[in-house]
Amino acid sequence: MNEQEKKEEESPLVQVISKLIGLIIFLLFVILGLIYVAVFGFPKIITEHVPPPSGSPVSKSESATNSFWQAPDTSSLAMNKDREQILYGRALIANTALYLGPSGSVAHLGNGMNCQNCHLDAGTKPFGNNYSATASTYPKFRERSGKTEDLNKRINDCFERSLNGKGLDTMSKEMQAMKAYIIWLGKDVKKGEKPKGAGIEDLAYLDRAADPMQGKKSFMTKCISCHGEDGQGKPSTDGKTYIYPPLWGIHSYNTGAGLYRITRLAGYIKNNMPLGASIESPQITNEEAWDIAAFLNSQERPTGMIEKDWPDIRNKPVDQPFGPYAETYSETQHKYGPFGPIAEAKKKTKKKSA
Ligand code: HEC
Ligand code: HEC
Repeated sequence: MNEQEKKEEESPLVQVISKLIGLIIFLLFVILGLIYVAVFGFPKIITEHVPPPSGSPVSKSESATNSFWQAPDTSSLAMNKDREQILYGRALIANTALYLGPSGSVAHLGNGMNCQNCHLDAGTKPFGNNYSATASTYPKFRERSGKTEDLNKRINDCFERSLNGKGLDTMSKEMQAMKAYIIWLGKDVKKGEKPKGAGIEDLAYLDRAADPMQGKKSFMTKCISCHGEDGQGKPSTDGKTYIYPPLWGIHSYNTGAGLYRITRLAGYIKNNMPLGASIESPQITNEEAWDIAAFLNSQERPTGMIEKDWPDIRNKPVDQPFGPYAETYSETQHKYGPFGPIAEAKKKTKKKSA
């Protein structure tokens, strides 16, 4: 038998064996694959991996930020007249006092604070009291006035209450610019919709009254480095505005302002203070936020023009600290809570009167 014959004789057997080995290896891979999937789940073969900007390691919380509303970028504005107006509106909101404060260059309407002190990052920060849902929801009926309000009215509300000053002429260049900016910010939000992270977060109620004494303790450790022990903040060197705005006293928001309602103030503080805090990385607990808010709003501040507010008392919010009310809870409980029982009672008065 020569070599050639040997090969020919062996070949059927060799073929069967090599096929069997192939099959076994294949089955082995299938089984290993199944075990992998059972243990780890399907591997993500196509992932949109965006490299993090240098110097900022991507954490779980940071990547989740993407699901909150994001303001359009001012650099996307076309070079035209609209751009000029929108940017002027933004400047007025960021540096209100320079234009409209007690020593403002255009008029003297406000108290030295800026809109941005409360509408952070010119009204663009998630849960930083942003304007994401403003264009999409105005004009709207508001229970506070009992009227349908347009943006002029809403902006002037903040001038008169939050800035404890006077409203702008609605035809003025400044009012038109602020509106243009706010409308441009919300241009991608559908009419009637509120994007995730809009405005101020509604915190869960405590099952006790918020405690100003407890709040004072937290305030002393977490807030005075900027706002001062006396809560008066720190004026800028030219005296026109503040580096750190005042939290009470004659230069602060008045008793008709949104922040004078504790749910608004607690929600604002929780996700924004101390400066640098955010919804993704809060620096205080809900409980601390409620107690600090109780402390701040128990201090002296200017009186707002609130006589005509909430004409239908059944629709007063649980935390409106001025009576009369449609239920029997005291002004003190409406100021500090607990709010659960008031909310329950309100459901009943609403049903009865409906
Ligand atoms: C002291 C804090 C404070 C200052 C300063 C302030 N605001 Fe406000 N603003 C609020 C609060 C609180 C609300 C109501 C938020 C809520 O109801 O959840 C509000 C609401 C608004 C709204 C309605 C937003 C919406 O989507 O419903 C507009 C518009 C507005 N402010 C504009 C301004 C402008 C313009 C300025 C500057 C002239 C200003 N605010 C200054 C606290 C402030
Ligand atoms: C590191 C400095 C810093 C610390 C600490 C700090 N804040 Fe502020 N706070 C600011 C600045 C700055 C603003 C205005 C933000 C802006 O204009 O962008 C502000 C704004 C505010 C406002 C809204 C404007 C006003 O004057 O009413 C409140 C309320 C507030 N802070 C409360 C607090 C509370 C409560 C604490 C402690 C939990 C605190 N802050 C800690 C710097 C600070």
